[in-house]
Amino acid sequence: MINRLIQSVAVLCVVSVHVSQGEIVVTRQRCEYRIDPLGIDDLHPRLSWAIESSTRGAKQTAYQVLASSTQDQLDADQGDLWDSGKVASSRTIHVPYEGEPLGSGEQCFWKVRAWDRDGRPSEWSPAAQWSMGLLDESEWAASYISYRDQTPVFKNRDELFLPPARQYRREFAIEKPIRRAMVYATALGIYELHLNGQQVGDAYFAPGWTDYHQRAYYQTYDVTDLIRSEGNAIGIWVADGWYSGYVGFGLLTGIGTEQIGRYTYGKTPSVMAQIEIEYEDGTRETIGTDKTWRVTGDGPIREADFLMGEYYDATRETPGWTEPGYDDSDWGASILAEENGDPVADFYEYQNPNDPRTGPEKASRPKNLGFQRPKLEAFPGVPVRMTQEIPCQSVTRRSPGRYIFDLGQNFAGTYRLRISGPKGHRVRLRFGEMLHPDGRLMTENLRKARAHDHYICKGDPAGEEFSPRFTFHGFRYVEVSDFPGEPNRDTITGLVLHSDTPGGSAFECSDPTINRLFKNIVWTQRANFIDLPTDCPQRDERMGWTGDAQVYIGSATINADVAAFFTKWLRELMEAQRENGVFPGYAPFPFQHGHDFGSAWCDAGVVCPWTIWQAYGDTRVIEECWAPMTQFMDWRKRTSQGYLGVEHGNPWGDWLSQGEETPLAFIDTAYFAVSTRMMAEMADAIGLHDEAEQYRQLLGNIERAFAERYVLPEGRLSVDTQTAYALAVYARLIPHSQRAALGDRLAQKITSNQNRMSTGFLGTYSLLPALTKTGHHDLATFLLQSHEFPSWGYEIDQGATTIWERWDSYTLEDGFGRHNAAMNSFSHYAFGAVCEWMFQEVAGIRPGKPGYEHIIIQPNPPSPSSNAERPPIHWVRASQESIRGTIASEWRLEDGGFELIVSIPANTTATVVIPTAHAGRITESDMPLNEVEGVRLLRTEPERAFLSVRSGAYRFQAPSSTTSAPEALSTSRSQTLPLAVEAASDTTDAVYQEK
Ligand code: BGC
Repeated sequence: MINRLIQSVAVLCVVSVHVSQGEIVVTRQRCEYRIDPLGIDDLHPRLSWAIESSTRGAKQTAYQVLASSTQDQLDADQGDLWDSGKVASSRTIHVPYEGEPLGSGEQCFWKVRAWDRDGRPSEWSPAAQWSMGLLDESEWAASYISYRDQTPVFKNRDELFLPPARQYRREFAIEKPIRRAMVYATALGIYELHLNGQQVGDAYFAPGWTDYHQRAYYQTYDVTDLIRSEGNAIGIWVADGWYSGYVGFGLLTGIGTEQIGRYTYGKTPSVMAQIEIEYEDGTRETIGTDKTWRVTGDGPIREADFLMGEYYDATRETPGWTEPGYDDSDWGASILAEENGDPVADFYEYQNPNDPRTGPEKASRPKNLGFQRPKLEAFPGVPVRMTQEIPCQSVTRRSPGRYIFDLGQNFAGTYRLRISGPKGHRVRLRFGEMLHPDGRLMTENLRKARAHDHYICKGDPAGEEFSPRFTFHGFRYVEVSDFPGEPNRDTITGLVLHSDTPGGSAFECSDPTINRLFKNIVWTQRANFIDLPTDCPQRDERMGWTGDAQVYIGSATINADVAAFFTKWLRELMEAQRENGVFPGYAPFPFQHGHDFGSAWCDAGVVCPWTIWQAYGDTRVIEECWAPMTQFMDWRKRTSQGYLGVEHGNPWGDWLSQGEETPLAFIDTAYFAVSTRMMAEMADAIGLHDEAEQYRQLLGNIERAFAERYVLPEGRLSVDTQTAYALAVYARLIPHSQRAALGDRLAQKITSNQNRMSTGFLGTYSLLPALTKTGHHDLATFLLQSHEFPSWGYEIDQGATTIWERWDSYTLEDGFGRHNAAMNSFSHYAFGAVCEWMFQEVAGIRPGKPGYEHIIIQPNPPSPSSNAERPPIHWVRASQESIRGTIASEWRLEDGGFELIVSIPANTTATVVIPTAHAGRITESDMPLNEVEGVRLLRTEPERAFLSVRSGAYRFQAPSSTTSAPEALSTSRSQTLPLAVEAASDTTDAVYQEK
């Protein structure tokens, strides 16, 4: 086993490129977080790379970036755009381009080399590149085009209005050899681009969800290789998407345009695209969308709606429509989007829900549903892509022609249907996350999301295949009705869709339930990262709920590189800020239902930028969010009373807590402190030291007010709920002298509740970290490993393959009976936020400095006999991809010994904390510490040894300090509190930080 661990770490450290000169190699080149991005509109895009080395303690002491306008010049080491010269610096991330000013569409090739500790340069990195977008609105020669939309504004709440997706096309010829051809494209709606019979790019749902009244994104594609000298055709599919299709709970609650939940931003989708051709002779030509484009709504996609589904009639297919020579004489002419006029409709929102005089009040205002040109920006995120196929596990016949396909995994995306049927034969597909105990598809939790797809066969004797393009579902089961013939497992294959955030993490330990939990967390992250972080992918919500995002974002940064993904969503969040400065309950904010905010949900506007900064060392995100964050803090100060939070906004509180309610004013105070502390830290990070000082003073006032109002002399809080203690520790509002006593009280609350949690979305996120920090790590791991309701293990025992909105959304005992089916999502990541603690406190990996420039490795094994119900975790193997490279921590308790294998990326340093009382007996790769290169004993505490460790791979061994807990924990009876083990220190190194 141990050998296997060492091998796996060794593999992580193997340098894939031959090291010819110095001891370091430059890898992982990124521009604005992405590999070779096209269409950047930042004039100083930031370049990042990582350093790899097989030598311990390898460092970059200097770097040089070369940027050239052609590959040839770069190859000849001629940085005609930028030669940074040799810069003495260890910096490898977010180096802003400081070369010649770059114009629209300009291409920039770049490479970098780095000098090691001994002043030896590495080889040049391979060439990477980026291209600039259209930097000025005036460079859009194209126009937004549309079809002539003569339908009246649909107002019927009892029926659905589902228009077909439109197809736009035009042909063009080129007369000279081309050097390069780019397409810039956007839509009010969603679009898919094709050129000469091929799809351009592989993204779903472009251009992404923004508040289209203010802003939209455009994408950039390099189509040089698709252009043909003999003639070209470009075709674009356009569907409603978020712009005019059904969105969120609009229909359910009767809000939005005409209370029907569609036409949120406008009535008629439109598209704008521009092909820029650069000829070999230096001349250029631009072909843009205009009235010469042809359009039809008679093609195969009869319905295309995110929530309602796609209806595909293969008998109406238009083969060859994206190739030259297609006869489009029966298509219509496009019109300019504005020619559809300015239809006006009533737009409804719920306001003043708590006004005692009126109660919830639905108010309407007239809204112009006509075309309004948004401001355009280059898409800063990562596209939604199909990343995996899921084979069907089993097929069950329900009745003649009706079958249920089980894909074995709940996920979000679509599927591939394989079918052979007579021309005109229609099958219907429905989707569910669960089955009823009698085998029926469970769809009650979809609410108004109809989630039906239809396919009409064209009658191809060779068989047909279909995958929808403009909808997605959250599902594990597919029910196909009227299937012709006998299906088999190949009939349906799941296609997993999500924003294709790169990187990855791994977590494995001695408890198989936790291994399943980790998988469930990752699946739920994928299912809910579809262009934006959503609450759930199945029912009629799928909105960017801010509370869910702020508790989960830390976990998200561990499981993938979500920097670009959140860069995008943070723009939406900042833009969704309300006039008074508060951040809303969800972003984008298509309509208001109730108050526009909730305590802790609104703090996402500070917590999320802070987390991205911590994970990726990104200070630009702080700068971009600074003004709105400051306005938010002004709102927080204005609404507080005597430095305490108040009860205001939507009463979500510790949403879905179990039997204990924590008053809103308490939650508001805790988050006031959280946001204030993060603002102080972020202010310092961007050099605003006066502001930082002001926030620190404010924090001091909040701490004093909190102590006075909530901390009782006998070591309790006046709000005596698990969540209150957990949040107080998370917000660091507990005076140091009271920490142990309040931590003990929290533990006592749990043990007197049969060692069960009573926490909701907010409290569950902060509970296990609070226990660990106050010396009750055994209890924290006990809760993690519990199988009793409410717990992660319980949910897994009920069959969960994702994280559920509620622990008992389904039970083997009561089926779906315990809850209102309508609020019962089986893919909701909030309770998966425990992932952050699993990595930080169980595997023990956390940033010691923003961007993992310094890393803390501090694993915390639970006491070997602390759990009376199941073996406590005794080994863990975890790794994550940081912006500086792979970090791994693998530990094992065996025969009274503790072994820790770590991997620290080159050019970073680490503090490794070994849980042992015998610092003098620590070895690394069987050698005493004082003979080991790259390691230094910093200091010891009674049960811990703090080591300073340079980059590289290490295997530490020591006698273990974890002893038996005084009494093993169990859920079967209430217990006396186990004595606190040594509390985790918060005053170790200067770089040692806690959230
Ligand atoms: C969503 C949540 C969200 C909540 C606010 C729900 O409908 O699904 O996850 O945070 O509303 O309480």
